Amino acid sequence: MKIGIDKIGFYVPKDYIDIVELAKARNVDPNKFTIGIGQDKQAVPQPYQDAVTMAASSADSILTDDDKKDLGLLIVGTESSVDESKSTAAFLMDLLDLPEDIRAFEIKQACYGATAGLQTAYDFVSQNPDKKALVIATDIARYGIKTPGEVTQGAGSVAMIISQNPRVLKLDHKSVYMTRNVGDFWRPTFSKTAFARGKFSNEVYVDFFKTLWDKYQTKYDATAADFSTMLFHIPYTKMGTKALRTLEGHVSDEKYAELTEHYQASIKFSREVGNLYTGSLYLGLLSYLVNAAKANEELLLFSYGSGAVGELYSGEIQPGFEKVIDQDAIMNLLNNREKMSISDYEKMYEIEYSDGTIVDPATVDAKFYLSEIKENERLYKKQN
Ligand code: COA
Repeated sequence: MKIGIDKIGFYVPKDYIDIVELAKARNVDPNKFTIGIGQDKQAVPQPYQDAVTMAASSADSILTDDDKKDLGLLIVGTESSVDESKSTAAFLMDLLDLPEDIRAFEIKQACYGATAGLQTAYDFVSQNPDKKALVIATDIARYGIKTPGEVTQGAGSVAMIISQNPRVLKLDHKSVYMTRNVGDFWRPTFSKTAFARGKFSNEVYVDFFKTLWDKYQTKYDATAADFSTMLFHIPYTKMGTKALRTLEGHVSDEKYAELTEHYQASIKFSREVGNLYTGSLYLGLLSYLVNAAKANEELLLFSYGSGAVGELYSGEIQPGFEKVIDQDAIMNLLNNREKMSISDYEKMYEIEYSDGTIVDPATVDAKFYLSEIKENERLYKKQN
């Protein structure tokens, strides 16, 4: 049975900051941020937006009533959860008007959560072929103002429907994975911002990729010649570049040139949006699908979540995939955003809603939003 991604959708908040302006405000050479880190813009969420509202928006962009009827599983991968108990998935039931007879829950393992969701969905559909699964990656990446990680922030969500006879990407059911207890990045429950040993995290990430690529080649008797494209977890685009570079000299020059060219297509959206944590790999997939992909291409996907879990798996792009992706809606979302000044971004960063907050809908520029915090419970609304 063929199982994989049948639909893929995306949401990014309307506001962004320009990375050159951020560099100037931090007295840094802009080339460090645009070339050294590899970013151009960074999405900035409004205080009324969070992991729940962004997840609702990306899912809403692809879900039809027919999909909802067939849904048996909803998994949200996030490390920006708004509640230590209730899952992001439970909040989505009303916002997306989902049927009750589904399993809905959240998975946390840093940026790996959505891949855990995708593989769980694969298993679910293989046991329930007439059912579909909705997997959503949703995150706000926050390191803090004037921290080294500030340039690697971002926000957004990617939603995917997993089903049999998928129209976008058939998963090959070939996968290798590994887990190690590593202190490269963490966010204690008391903190809104992450702590990172950024350079160490880079080293672990590259080491995981090399280890898993060796494993994959041995397990499946594979070589780089089997793939036209490798997609990487890209919290900032330089990170994936570092993993890709480990192949230089180990694959033919032609293959390396092809992989590099395709990698450039896969990072276009991330350069414009920044870090999506769990969604980063899948934004790379979407960017590749919209900007360069061809039917029947074999892709290798590298997922990494600090702490740390890595997984390398493969899939085949399906003929007609372009008809299933609403390219105009995605490009409109990316191109019709508003630039925020660095000082406005800094002011908004400090805003934190507390119990008793009521959000005036007239100030909201999003379909899904946090409307109120009542008795410390977050309440959400949808508007047209
Ligand atoms: N022009 C071009 N490139 C420049 C430059 C300039 N003027 N100045 C510096 N650079 C390059 C550096 O050579 C370096 O490139 P390299 O990584 O290929 O060697 C890059 O810019 C970054 O410089 P560096 O001095 O290492 O930056 P930093 O100390 O500010 O830290 C991060 C950068 C990414 C480590 C930091 O932003 C961070 O910790 N982010 C959080 C990342 C993280 O942990 N993510 C985990 C998710 S998996």
